[in-house]
Amino acid sequence: MKKAIGINNRRDFFKKIGLSTASVLLPITSLNSMPLPALSRAPNQPNTPVNFIYDGLALTPQEYLEKLDQINKKQPIEPDFYGNGGATKLIEDAFRKITGKEKAIYLPTGTMANQLAIKLLNGNNTKVIVPENSHVFRDEADAAQSVHSKRLIPIGKGKPYFDVEDLKNTINYTNTNEVFKSGLGTIVIENPVRRADGTVVPIEKIKEISNYCKENNYKMHLDGARIHLASAFSNTSLLEYASYFDTVYISLYKYLNASGGAMLCGDADIIDKVAHQIKILGGTVYQSWSNTAMALYYLNGIEDRWSQVIQRSKTIISELNKIEGLRISSLKNGTNIYDLTLDTAINLKKLAIFLYDTYNIWLGRANEKGVVKFVINESLLTRDYKDIINAWIEGIEYARG
Ligand SMILES: Cc1ncc(COP(=O)(O)O)c(C=O)c1O
Repeated sequence: MKKAIGINNRRDFFKKIGLSTASVLLPITSLNSMPLPALSRAPNQPNTPVNFIYDGLALTPQEYLEKLDQINKKQPIEPDFYGNGGATKLIEDAFRKITGKEKAIYLPTGTMANQLAIKLLNGNNTKVIVPENSHVFRDEADAAQSVHSKRLIPIGKGKPYFDVEDLKNTINYTNTNEVFKSGLGTIVIENPVRRADGTVVPIEKIKEISNYCKENNYKMHLDGARIHLASAFSNTSLLEYASYFDTVYISLYKYLNASGGAMLCGDADIIDKVAHQIKILGGTVYQSWSNTAMALYYLNGIEDRWSQVIQRSKTIISELNKIEGLRISSLKNGTNIYDLTLDTAINLKKLAIFLYDTYNIWLGRANEKGVVKFVINESLLTRDYKDIINAWIEGIEYARG
């Protein structure tokens, strides 16, 4: 009976992460745009999985409830009322401080945070310049055009990020090639860049763009869904990143482990207008404390934990790279995503199944080039790193031949 449950769980798991036979070679981008599956734990194994797939811990509903209970027992969670007060106010205060902005507000989604930031910063201007590979341009269902009457102009196609010269060229192009002038209001930067496997936009590039925008009176919005990762890997504080932008959005669920939610930070004259806009769009939620209390818990101490994640991952990666036939390489200006390749003598599916079944370690699928995106996160801190290394050594031996 137990065995049968185990097999079903396993099948379910590999189907969800895309390692079923049919989908081993699906591109990683489809995985990234897929909803986070409610994964079940492998039976009879350490409760907390070490996952090499997500930015965060991928908590199950049961773990989520237990964590909230633990948080509540330490200090009773105060509920908010339509976003006012309680845990939601606490997290708004926390984000205001860490970004150095006048105000911060909770929104139900990052998509709404991005869109409202653009709309409000732009005023009556119609044009917004956005990275071609950004969530705003590619993944927000043309909300800017269809809901907010803003025209998005993509920039930097084929590059991980654009620089100030690209920006000047794009502005010059529209200024000289369009007969009926309409205003450009806002420039958007995404950092780290999800579609470039978490590449950080170098701070010097941001500074140059910011100086140019200030001189020319353009506003700037940062899609910093995962800005803490950029900060941890580039040693640039959130305060510094935020200082170059008028508004900053940060996700509460990517690595802060809430089940959803977003923060938008900026000057009072913008942020004070956001609550009304959320209401108009039907996004005012009665209570959000289950998200904000959770994210606040994981926000506390995040810098220290990520510096430990980075230290530990360096040791793990350098040990794993000693295994014949396995190669984990970092990316230029990368954050928590690495490229893992295996010799043809090592069967990825066998390895992934072994790691999952025996050690509750999760590994993603290969993309069309045979590269597995090896993603590090705080789950590395839940196990002795030597155990993780040994599990891999065993798994590779098992998967050979
Ligand atoms: C870079 C980036 N920006 C914005 C979002 C949107 O966040 P949400 O799912 O909360 O709308 C995402 C989500 O995947 C993202 O990766």
